[in-house]
Amino acid sequence: MNPLFIAPSILSADFSRLGAEVASVLEAGADWIHVDVMDGHFVPNLTLGPVVVESLRKETKGFLDVHLMVTDPLEYGKRFAKAGADLVSFHLEAAMDPGAVIEGLRAQNVQVGLVINPGRSPVELFPYLDRVDLVLVMSVWAGFGGQSFRNDTPAKVEILAKEMVRRNLSTRLEVDGGINAATARRVRDAGADTLVAGTSVFGAADRTGAIASLRA
Ligand code: DX5
Ligand code: ZN
Repeated sequence: MNPLFIAPSILSADFSRLGAEVASVLEAGADWIHVDVMDGHFVPNLTLGPVVVESLRKETKGFLDVHLMVTDPLEYGKRFAKAGADLVSFHLEAAMDPGAVIEGLRAQNVQVGLVINPGRSPVELFPYLDRVDLVLVMSVWAGFGGQSFRNDTPAKVEILAKEMVRRNLSTRLEVDGGINAATARRVRDAGADTLVAGTSVFGAADRTGAIASLRA
């Protein structure tokens, strides 16, 4: 089983001092930095472009886990890869041909992830499990931070975790949305190994304590 990674989402950070915010959570014990990219089209919210990742890349050696919520994942994914992303994940719902997007991104020497919104069955990810580095099960509808965790998430995670064990795959299994100490435990018990947390880490006065409690 993969070691547990905690990936704070900078969506909940203070954007006026992003470099310091990233350094602060890495110092507090984060494994990855989760970067939420929204295009105002695939989701009704706008966040940031490759220029921000390019700047962060100069500031930190931390692993940049870029979550694309955009309608053209291949085109924009390539730009984020060039900007210095370590992993680029995109939504199954956003791709006509997910296999082609996976191959196109791989050609950029970046790790690749595939994401499903709550409306999708985890079984829809099965054809891609051995072709990606990570699958991401959204535990809220993509678009905004600070939403409540959906109770149907652990069962979906369990279906994916069992299939990966059955096929002897080490593909990472990430969950994103409404993660706090209590929901973290539920998805870890179900087999998740990578937890995204925005509000519960960046909103905490004691970020070291918040990350430790996600791990506990
Ligand atoms: C939602 C984003 C999440 C979100 C997580 O579209 O993908 O990464 O920011 O934030 P919290 O932990 O506040 O739900
Ligand atoms: Zn995200």
